[in-house]
Amino acid sequence: MKKLILFIPILFVLIANAQYEHEVTNYTWPTDEKVLEKLDDWQDMKFGLLMHWGSYSQWGIVESWSICPEDYGWCQRKKGSNPDDYFTYKKEYENLKLSFNPTAFNPEKWAKAASNAGMKYVVFTTKHHDGFCMFDSKYTDYKITSKESPFSGNPKANVTKEIFNAFRAEGLWAGAYFSKPDWHNENYWDPKFPPFDRNVNYDPDLYPEKWEKFVDFTHNQIMELMTDYGKVDILWLDGGWVSKKEPEAVRNSYNVREKSGFIKGRTVNQDIRMSELAAKAREKQPGLIVVDRAVRGPNQNYLTPENRVPDAQLPYPWESCIIAGGGWSWVPNPQFMSPKQSIHMLIDIVAKGGNLLYNIGPGPDGRWPAGAYELLDAMGKWIDVNGEAIYSTRAIEPFKTENICLTQQKDTKAVYALYLEEADGAGIPESFEVKGIFAAKNAKLSMLGAKGNLKWQNTDSGVKIFIPKKMRQNLPCDLAWAVKISEVK
Ligand code: GLC
Repeated sequence: MKKLILFIPILFVLIANAQYEHEVTNYTWPTDEKVLEKLDDWQDMKFGLLMHWGSYSQWGIVESWSICPEDYGWCQRKKGSNPDDYFTYKKEYENLKLSFNPTAFNPEKWAKAASNAGMKYVVFTTKHHDGFCMFDSKYTDYKITSKESPFSGNPKANVTKEIFNAFRAEGLWAGAYFSKPDWHNENYWDPKFPPFDRNVNYDPDLYPEKWEKFVDFTHNQIMELMTDYGKVDILWLDGGWVSKKEPEAVRNSYNVREKSGFIKGRTVNQDIRMSELAAKAREKQPGLIVVDRAVRGPNQNYLTPENRVPDAQLPYPWESCIIAGGGWSWVPNPQFMSPKQSIHMLIDIVAKGGNLLYNIGPGPDGRWPAGAYELLDAMGKWIDVNGEAIYSTRAIEPFKTENICLTQQKDTKAVYALYLEEADGAGIPESFEVKGIFAAKNAKLSMLGAKGNLKWQNTDSGVKIFIPKKMRQNLPCDLAWAVKISEVK
């Protein structure tokens, strides 16, 4: 029993550390004016789409991770002729390139659905950790445009280009997810040795020339994306363990992952020369937002809490990346979040000053699951009515009290109180109090999407708002309602 009591707090610390690794890193504000400007525009957008898609989608398994020799339930090998034999498994996994043929690929359809849902940017996996390129890189043949890949003859074979073009045509920004680790590249996982974990499988300090080849390769691939794919707004770099090792004292002060003691906590010096790369990339893409995830310092222009919404407002630009249904990558019959969960989550995130990057995994044939369209459609309907309370807003204290969230238009300073419907589906009550906010003397209050002004009265603790019966019987939308307060004290 005593042992158990000791163990519970330790377990809690481990779980908490794993959860927070993408949001606790100290934030460094960029100094480049163009980047600052772009970040501000990005903070207006609030809602983006993340897509994980690769040859792994054919097996309906977790992206990349099953070829990494780290043993967690979520990356268990479930496919192939002999999943217990690592090298057979990896070979068969990589051979998925020979059969990947997503002939139903129709990025215009995705872009329309995303745009109708109110999404303002897309982040697409141009290359995940397995190294399979969803763009036509000339530095590898492990790519969808390889002659050996059946889709290479398709006019849309360079899927990254097609996706960026289609989404841009709908007015969305283009973001390139790119994995720094590359588990196919011989200068990352040298085939002479078995891989040990997610890290490079040799010591870059002992083999600097080999490491240099990998750095070159990475820079070259990223520069291809920055040069040949039109305007790119965000470079979203995953695999935070590929970074320069900082001195021990600095590491100990912030690196929660290392303290966890898991195998993934092994820190290997992997200096990819990110500042140099970011500067080169910005010569091609002025103002480019660089997100070197979970790497402290100037190249992580926003932070990326993963699959969770922070408990409180975060004092820097941030984005929660969240799985809308299934996994990051496609799984058979994915169950999507309900419109209510999704809309409430979006509001919660926006009230805390963040963006929601919602992930959908396209299937092996190039189609989204039907549930993805249904969900986005419902979100779009809500956003059509309430967009004014979402876009171009900034966080305002006290952010959220019970089921009421606050946002504030950054220019007009109008405040929006968003009432989230309770679990019982009871709509909106006759009156409710918004705590911590007081309407100015001449303020006008109204519900977005409905006609007429609302009665209100300031109390000791906030502003009490009255919703007339007629309005409650004929609400402009479902699930959550926004009351605009033209001016606050
Ligand atoms: C996690 C997964 C990785 C995925 C990422 C997206 O880190 O391990 O595969 O790409 O989340 O945020």
